[in-house]
Amino acid sequence: MYEDVVKEVYEIVRPRRKLFTAGPVACFPEVLEIMKVQMFSHRAEEYKIIHRDTINRLKSFLEAEKGTVLLFPSSGSGIMEASIRNAVSPGGKVLVTIIGAFGERYAEVVKESGRKAIELSFGLGKAVDPDVLDKALRENPDVEAVTITYNETSTGVINPLPELAKIVKDHDKLLFVDAVSAMGGADIKFDEWGIDVVFGSSQKAFGVPPGLAIGAFSERVFELAEKTPEKGWYFNLPLYRKFDEEKDGTPSTPPMPQIFGLNVVLRMIERMGGKEKWLNMYQERAKIIRDGVRDIGLKLLAEPGHESPTITAVFAPKGVKGSDVYNAMRDRGFELAKGYGKIKEKTFRIGHMGYITFEDIKEMLENLRKVVSELLKGS
Ligand SMILES: Cc1ncc(COP(=O)(O)O)c(C=O)c1O
Repeated sequence: MYEDVVKEVYEIVRPRRKLFTAGPVACFPEVLEIMKVQMFSHRAEEYKIIHRDTINRLKSFLEAEKGTVLLFPSSGSGIMEASIRNAVSPGGKVLVTIIGAFGERYAEVVKESGRKAIELSFGLGKAVDPDVLDKALRENPDVEAVTITYNETSTGVINPLPELAKIVKDHDKLLFVDAVSAMGGADIKFDEWGIDVVFGSSQKAFGVPPGLAIGAFSERVFELAEKTPEKGWYFNLPLYRKFDEEKDGTPSTPPMPQIFGLNVVLRMIERMGGKEKWLNMYQERAKIIRDGVRDIGLKLLAEPGHESPTITAVFAPKGVKGSDVYNAMRDRGFELAKGYGKIKEKTFRIGHMGYITFEDIKEMLENLRKVVSELLKGS
């Protein structure tokens, strides 16, 4: 009866380009298919089955058999804030490592939550230097936690997390990992690496729409959270764990379609042959894109050896703005990502997350070559 209304909205939001975005990314068709299902109560048995199954699959994917995995009705930033408000004492110090815009966000969250941020910044395109981190921890023995952006989406840099985690653990500090653009695209070994909090968002490497955050937490975090005053209600971690254990659910209403979608992706990963095969697919995509970009004559922002498997930041050619490349690619039917933060105008980014075929990558690179050549002629 109201098909016209749907058409009106569809006309505004319908897909117009192939997505190589930083997130939200293109979703797998299988995910979109299950998300159309009619809703029902999140306390119903059917929801509980999917909730438990999703958590069990995530525990295995994140190698978090000792940890507690929880689902949150928020984007990833919600868990960023929860890590501070639950596990750091009011007024306590946090060592925030910064390699780009999302490290800066963690520092803001620390400060806005009434804690003190000791900022340890590295140049854009660089990863955290393990020796510098070690020195900073020796100089600041009173910090309670260290935050690390596993994959810095603004610069396309992946941090050497296992190595950094070892240093943090040697100093016996809490380790909080922002894995928003890493989870699902880069390996996470929660137990082995001694992580205390790691979080991701549905709209990135799992290729699911936004609205769901995924977190894994150590026992130490719950012990601290029990004692931390005024951590609020919405992101009260012990409360989340209680609802998870006792009700196979969440304290407030979860984004059920996203959870069904994530469950489908986790089953797809299993069918594909498991986590290693899936992560290899991400490595392969990233390599083809990096090789293609270099072949066009463009330079990457990431320092060699730390290139991200999920997003590539590229310097625009001399005399050309990053936004010119972005706009010209849009005109050709490809939505890349603009530069972000301080290097917005000098760079553009190519996301490799979600539903992207190798054929699409080839086509995107062919078009990028033409765009760069046309822009250079005009500059
Ligand atoms: C590394 C990183 N951290 C945090 C965020 C914020 O995540 P969300 O928008 O899901 O809250 C993003 C978003 O792009 C990100 O890339």
